[in-house]
Amino acid sequence: MSFTIDFRGSHATGAGARGACAFVTAGPTEEPLDDVRFLGNRSSGRMGLAIAEALLAAGADVTLALGPIRTEPSAALLAHPRLRLVRFRSSRDLEAVMRNELGSADLVVMAAAVADYRPKAVAEGKMRRTDTGLVLDLEGVPDLLASTKSARKPGSRVVGFALEPRDRLERSAREKLERKDLFGIVANPLETMDAPDIEGTLFLRDGTARVPEDRDGGGRIAKQAFAAWLARELLAPQPA
Ligand code: CTP
Repeated sequence: MSFTIDFRGSHATGAGARGACAFVTAGPTEEPLDDVRFLGNRSSGRMGLAIAEALLAAGADVTLALGPIRTEPSAALLAHPRLRLVRFRSSRDLEAVMRNELGSADLVVMAAAVADYRPKAVAEGKMRRTDTGLVLDLEGVPDLLASTKSARKPGSRVVGFALEPRDRLERSAREKLERKDLFGIVANPLETMDAPDIEGTLFLRDGTARVPEDRDGGGRIAKQAFAAWLARELLAPQPA
């Protein structure tokens, strides 16, 4: 079934988003060093899971690519009839999943915290301790959002995240928006990492910046509430 993002109502409702096919990535990557060790990061996956839930609540079909998170998602989410779950561990796995899935997604939300570097070679078995220390040889991980661009469905809305120090949040977010050829980017100050709240701003390619109305005095909002707002914004029609 094909889906055109053509919402004539003011905002997408549950019925409005029905038939929309969304692809969401969440969680960290683990880059193997040997059969038992990896390089990872502290991403909890919470934001991506909340977005998947919000898109389901808005009526979309959701494929969730989920990394190795510490706390498993709720049984209600896993049992949702419009959710399809794909698991990944490393950035290589995620790249393969993206190449499979992007072609059928009308909306892509890349909330996964993908490694920027990975071990160049993966040792077989378990590396032994030596007295001489260890220097790791790392290689760059391709920017998956940019490198899988040719696999995207034409006209799809692709949204990334940017976790940046507050003083260069907007500049870096806008630069990533262009470099990764995105529809939008959610910029969040580094200071809110791992927190239950987010201080997110959605920068769109049309030059506008949007924030939820119901933030507290400090600009913060619970991740769940932010996700619901974001789902509405991303499924809404674009002004002509
Ligand atoms: N991302 C990606 N592939 C990577 C690293 C990040 O697709 N190898 C995606 C993330 O999922 C996120 C966005 O790019 O949606 C921004 O991630 P971030 O780590 O902030 O950006 P980088 O491009 O890695 O830039 P920098 O390290 O300079 O901040």
